[in-house]
Amino acid sequence: MWELAVTSAAGAALAGVGLLRWHHRHPELRWDWSTIDVDALLAEPFPEGFQWGSATAAHQVEGGNTGSNWSWWEDQVDAKGEPRVARGQRAGAAAEHWTRYPEDLRRMRDEIGLDHYRFSVEWSRIQPERGVWNQEAIDHYSRMVDEMLRLGITPMATLHHFTHPLWFERLRSFEEERNIALFEVFAERVFRVLSDRVPLWCTHNECGPFAAMGWGLGQFPPGVQDARRMCAVLHNLMRSHVRVYQRLKAIRPGAKIGLVKNIFQFDPWSRWNPLHWAICRLADHVYNESIIGLLRDGVFRVRIPGMLRIEDEIPGARQAADFVGLNYYSNLLIRLRRLADPHSPLVRSDQVTTDFPYATYPEGFYRALHRMATLGKPIIVTENGIPDKHDDRRADWIRRYLAALKRAMNEGVDVRGYYYWTLIDNFEWAEGYDMRFGLFGVDFETQERTLRGGAAPLVEIVRRHQGAE
Ligand code: GAL
Repeated sequence: MWELAVTSAAGAALAGVGLLRWHHRHPELRWDWSTIDVDALLAEPFPEGFQWGSATAAHQVEGGNTGSNWSWWEDQVDAKGEPRVARGQRAGAAAEHWTRYPEDLRRMRDEIGLDHYRFSVEWSRIQPERGVWNQEAIDHYSRMVDEMLRLGITPMATLHHFTHPLWFERLRSFEEERNIALFEVFAERVFRVLSDRVPLWCTHNECGPFAAMGWGLGQFPPGVQDARRMCAVLHNLMRSHVRVYQRLKAIRPGAKIGLVKNIFQFDPWSRWNPLHWAICRLADHVYNESIIGLLRDGVFRVRIPGMLRIEDEIPGARQAADFVGLNYYSNLLIRLRRLADPHSPLVRSDQVTTDFPYATYPEGFYRALHRMATLGKPIIVTENGIPDKHDDRRADWIRRYLAALKRAMNEGVDVRGYYYWTLIDNFEWAEGYDMRFGLFGVDFETQERTLRGGAAPLVEIVRRHQGAE
């Protein structure tokens, strides 16, 4: 009996030590904002040439996209007959950015002062069928780039931002390694046309969420729930990034090409619950560390106990990024109920929530910047913004996230730019038009754009610092 007692006590002590170690190694940082002089931080100079921009993605704003995995998905229902997008919404005409881009770019520059623009090219428009190229679509993006240059805006292009042609989806898209070659051909085609004027390129946007939502949670196309298939997608996306990087660099070595990494930290709801920790560590390993580790060590590693083990050295992966893009929104507080219902808000009682079920968490942005800095590459913040339909939290979000950014930069983190997500209200994937991320609100009846009051701090900060550029 006493042996059992001693063994359990020793086991509990060991578990306690383990928890304590994790607790210290992965602190859920929280600052006392009453002691932080945000104005003073924001008044400090930013480095010369710092990129102030905003970001969009083709399918979310263009309108009229009909041949992609997403346009197909918007017509689907789940096993219970429920539409895949909230209340059966479809991207439809979206914000008509396809035709209204000159107005949007001009407003971005004149009303906010931003002079960098991250956009994505819609593969399904450019290559509507395998082997069929739509020159008019390529010319469109070429004209859009010319318009940016005319306005003094520097373009940054993303080659894959969640959408691809339906014919590619039907070939099982990035589940199959052999399909990467098809993406490479598309990427090269676009790059050959635009790279004389576009200096900044992103290969894939947010591989973790793309794989998790499509093949893990099944909330994005193709709606699969299978961890093995999800990891195969992630693995192929990493191969794809490296191959596309190498192929494009060989064409124009001067272009700056990076991978866009989203970081949502997984933090345990209860810091003394081993189960919460176990889920967080596993999720972090699969969605964050696998990708960061590839760029750091050149090896893609995923281990899910009892299920799968991938360890693949991808030649040249360590060198395959001139910068790393960071998309940061918040952390995810993990507890079991949350897993059952991903829509139940999960924030600490003193935190401000957003219209998504996550909190405003600028300290997490600071943590993510420091983590990305371990790669030793320049960082560009390729997305950061708040869904806030009442526009009553946006101003504080901007001020505090930029203060956190400045703090990290003051501590030596090499950040080259900040692109706000997003310029205009848009189609927010599975949430349809319910989420309002835009610096400009869009009235989707009239397509009228109105600069939101909450954008004011960004306008002020950008104007102040642009003098220094
Ligand atoms: C990112 C994604 C964007 C946008 C944003 C806001 O994950 O790249 O397309 O949807 O989140 O949720």
